Amino acid sequence: MPPRTPRSDRPGRPSSGRNAAFPGRGKSSRPKTDYRTRAPAHEYELDALPGLEHVAATELQGVPLARDVRGLRFWYPGDPERLTRLRSVVAAYRVQAWDVPRPRGLLGNQQLGELTDWLRDVAAVGGHTSFRLSAAGKDSSVMQRLAEELQGSLGLPHQPEDGELLIRLRPSEVGPGWEVLARITPRPLSARAWRVCNMGGGLNATIAYATHKLAGQRDVDRIFNPMSGSGTLLVERALMGPSDALVGVDIDPAAVACARQNLQAAKKQVEVACLDALHTDLPARSFDLITADLPWGDAIGDHRSNETLYPAFLQEMHRLSSKHGRLAVITHEIKLFERVLAGQQKWEGHELLQVYSGGHWPKVYLLHKR
Ligand SMILES: C[S@@+](CC[C@H](N)C(=O)[O-])C[C@H]1O[C@@H](n2cnc3c(N)ncnc32)[C@H](O)[C@@H]1O
Repeated sequence: MPPRTPRSDRPGRPSSGRNAAFPGRGKSSRPKTDYRTRAPAHEYELDALPGLEHVAATELQGVPLARDVRGLRFWYPGDPERLTRLRSVVAAYRVQAWDVPRPRGLLGNQQLGELTDWLRDVAAVGGHTSFRLSAAGKDSSVMQRLAEELQGSLGLPHQPEDGELLIRLRPSEVGPGWEVLARITPRPLSARAWRVCNMGGGLNATIAYATHKLAGQRDVDRIFNPMSGSGTLLVERALMGPSDALVGVDIDPAAVACARQNLQAAKKQVEVACLDALHTDLPARSFDLITADLPWGDAIGDHRSNETLYPAFLQEMHRLSSKHGRLAVITHEIKLFERVLAGQQKWEGHELLQVYSGGHWPKVYLLHKR
């Protein structure tokens, strides 16, 4: 087993008689090397929306060479570009611990030099053009000094609100000292490059990915996304791989235009029509999987109209579903949805997950025809 605390991780860095766990102190600072690649490994941590950690952990299992995995924390000697392709996580951070009792210790000459080198490495790979600090007490004089010092040593502007290189400081979770986490990408991974059009009520893309994964990804599925809004579920499913059919509808022409723009940016050809999802005139049993992010009654729709929309939706989706069809529903109208579900006989199912996003805790349900 490797040490639980990270070693200095820069290839070719001279030994400075420092501790294995911390660059700032002790015996050795040789890079941790993976025997399969002989490349130096770095320690990383993934950030997922609360409720999606298990989906992120499953996706992490598919990253070759990720090892010593503890939750969403792991060592990895490969190209960080692979980590930027993870679709269920909000962000990926490189992590390093320093043996300092409090952040002020990072202002020491040696520690500041090490921290600068380490951050420069992250920025060189990620192409960040500015930075910001995030820590408890980030407005304290110590943090302000640290920001000033890093601005000089990194040669990047400090932008406290939207700096691209997000640097988080926190007490170490595996021993004494402080950990620094540096986000490897200038923007969160959940802010997809394909999202050229935003709409109020747009779904977090990691939830769309998770919904499709947990509802089952099958190449032979004919998939329908009624109420497609800006197209988040459509784009994420199209990017996951082939399906027999993938179709979206929305009643709002602006939403349809928005979804089309996003699909075009993702280079995916998916049909989106401006239609009432309850009156599409599509033949019965047209789809094997229906995924829907229903109006939550706040940014989109209102609670009163949802009282009639939700039961009518379940009825019509039953007609459009094939014999073994699945229906995945995302909603924040939890009481209403569960009441409507309990009052009908056509669908049965269970809660797939509850996730925290944008100040809400929506649920995702997976239903099957009775
Ligand atoms: C919660 S939003 C969907 C957001 C979408 N998941 C996204 O990421 O942008 C619900 C959508 O349902 C649409 N909608 C409401 N009633 C509808 C109906 N009867 N038929 C089709 N679309 C409808 C709204 O126009 C809105 O775009």
